[in-house]
Amino acid sequence: MQDYQAPADLLKGRIIVVTGAGAGLGRAAAKAYAEHGATVILIGRTQSKLESCYDEIVAAGHPEPIIVVMDFATAPEGDYANLRDRLEETFGHLDGILVNASVLGERKSIEQTNTKSWMDLMQINVNSVFLLSKYLLGLCKLSPNDTSVILTSSSVGRKGRAYWGAYAVSKFATEGMMQVMADELENTSNIRVNSLNPGATNTEMRRTAYPAENPSSNPKPEEKMNAYLYLMGPDSIGINGQAYNA
Ligand SMILES: NC(=O)c1ccc[n+]([C@@H]2O[C@H](COP(=O)([O-])OP(=O)(O)OC[C@H]3O[C@@H](n4cnc5c(N)ncnc54)[C@H](OP(=O)(O)O)[C@@H]3O)[C@@H](O)[C@H]2O)c1
Repeated sequence: MQDYQAPADLLKGRIIVVTGAGAGLGRAAAKAYAEHGATVILIGRTQSKLESCYDEIVAAGHPEPIIVVMDFATAPEGDYANLRDRLEETFGHLDGILVNASVLGERKSIEQTNTKSWMDLMQINVNSVFLLSKYLLGLCKLSPNDTSVILTSSSVGRKGRAYWGAYAVSKFATEGMMQVMADELENTSNIRVNSLNPGATNTEMRRTAYPAENPSSNPKPEEKMNAYLYLMGPDSIGINGQAYNA
């Protein structure tokens, strides 16, 4: 998968949602999907970051994306329903969803973790994934194409590690959600659901988690995009319920 070479028109005409599209891996994925022909729905909490991603995609001559400002920490359920209605009205269906937005939260032992910060992280990293799936899977079912849902995981969501607290537990939940949805949708729809652990990547989150590390010792987000393209495009048809590393 790391060596995958995506054809230039891999995602031509496809409509793909990317959460956390303003920075880091989500931004790189949104740009890579647009470069390969997709119309991308850029979702995130900071309008200026989404606008600069939008500007770069348009300046490169790729399909014009749309911006949806949404803070998963505070968005009520009605906002997810409105998002579905807006996307259905504009596009009629979806061909893919990259669930990417997450926060790192406190790096403390379970005993020392502040209860509110635990709950806040779960709202962003877990509950929003449920709400996005609940409201947007129906639009994937309306697609005339194969569709792919990618949930972003982490190595600490596959084997627990001390002091990774709520973040690690949220990624275990992400893996669980991936398995449940993949099993529910197997044989009954055109939708495949997989998880992807990008591995150490030079982003704001990584720099915060490892302040003593030389940031440039890790690959840039753009260097991880082969896996993101492979799992989103039709070359991964038939792969469902799998946990991948980029
Ligand atoms: N980087 C790594 O080494 C690494 C390793 C394993 C897994 N991952 C996973 O990869 C994914 C991307 O991480 P990253 O490293 O690219 O992190 P990042 O640079 O911190 O980017 C996270 C993105 O999520 C958005 N976001 C955070 N909270 C949000 C909220 N409440 N509502 C809406 N959007 C929100 C951020 O928006 P703002 O920019 O506006 O804050 C940002 O665009 C995450 O799921 C992370 O767990 C990363």
